[in-house]
Amino acid sequence: MTRRLVLVTGASSGIGKALAREFAANGWDLALTARREDRLIEFAEEMKAQYGVDSLTIAADLSKSSAPKKIIDAIAAADRQIDGLVNNAGYGLPGTFTETSWKQQSDFIQLMLTSYAELVHRVMPGMEERGYGRIINVASVAGLMPGSRGHTLYAGVKAALIKFSQSLYFEGKAHGIHSTALCPGFTYSEFHDVNETRSMVSKLPNFWWLTAEQVAMAGFNAVQRNQPVVVPGLWYKFLTGLNQILPNDASMWLMSRNSGSFRQGEADTGKGAKTAA
Ligand SMILES: NC(=O)c1ccc[n+]([C@@H]2O[C@H](COP(=O)([O-])OP(=O)(O)OC[C@H]3O[C@@H](n4cnc5c(N)ncnc54)[C@H](OP(=O)(O)O)[C@@H]3O)[C@@H](O)[C@H]2O)c1
Repeated sequence: MTRRLVLVTGASSGIGKALAREFAANGWDLALTARREDRLIEFAEEMKAQYGVDSLTIAADLSKSSAPKKIIDAIAAADRQIDGLVNNAGYGLPGTFTETSWKQQSDFIQLMLTSYAELVHRVMPGMEERGYGRIINVASVAGLMPGSRGHTLYAGVKAALIKFSQSLYFEGKAHGIHSTALCPGFTYSEFHDVNETRSMVSKLPNFWWLTAEQVAMAGFNAVQRNQPVVVPGLWYKFLTGLNQILPNDASMWLMSRNSGSFRQGEADTGKGAKTAA
C-alpha cells in the first residue's frame, strides 16, 4: 500500500519543518514547499535517512497567485494523492497600515489567507472522495486576542483562519476529514528575525516561549483526534481563556499596555511595529 502523503507549506524552517518531521515520524511521506529549495532538499534527505520516508520538494513563492496550482500540479505529476495538508508558510509585516505599501499588504493577504484557502479548495475534493483527510491551518494566539497597533492585518488574518478551520471541521466530519487551527504563541523559529521583532521579543521571559517541536506535536495530536482549535502551552491556554471571559474593553486595554512595552525598542526609531505571535 502507498504511504499517505502530507503537503507542508513553509517547510524550510521553524514550525513547518517541525510539523513535517512529526508527520514523517508517524510514517507519512512528505511534499515540502517553500522558496529556499536547497533547504527542502537537505531536509528531505534527512527525513529519508531518519524515517525512510519519501519526499517531493517543490520551490514556490506563495505570495504569487499561480503558486497553489503549481504545487498541486507538481504532486499530481509525481502520481501522488494528498491525504494531509499543513498550511503554515507565513511572516509578519512590520509597521502600521499606512507605513506599508498596498503591494506589501496584498502579498501578505495572498500568502497568509488566499493561498491557504486555495490549497484547501484544491485538495479537499480528493479527500472527500477517499473518505480521509487531515488539514492543519497554522494560525496564532494573535487570532484569539484583540488586534493592536502595527502588523495590522496579522491578527485579523489569523482569526479568519481559526473560523475557516472550524467551518472545515463541520464540513469534513461526514467525510473522515479532520481540520485543526493550530494557534501557537511566541515560538523559537526564524519568524521574529524575518519580521524584525527579535530585539523586542527577546526581552520576554522564558515561560512565554514554545519550541517548534512542542507546537508541532500539539498540532499533530490535535488533528489526529479532530480537535478544531488547539492552543499549545499552559501559559497561552490561560491567556486566551482569560481573554474570553474579560470584557472587550479590558482586553483592549491590556493589549495596548503589552504591545506598548514590547515596542519600546522601536519607539525612538519611529518605526512603530508591534510584535506578532
Ligand atoms: N514563531 C512564532 O512566534 C509564531 C507564533 C504564532 C504563529 N506563527 C505562525 O507560524 C507559521 C510559521 O512561522 P515560523 O515561526 O515557523 O517562521 P519561520 O521560521 O520564519 O518559517 C516561515 C516559513 O514560511 C516560508 N515562507 C515565508 N514566506 C513565503 C513565501 N512568500 N512563499 C512560500 N513560503 C514562504 C519560509 O520559507 P522560505 O523563506 O524558504 O520561503 C519558512 O519555511 C506562520 O504562519 C506564523 O504566522 C509563528
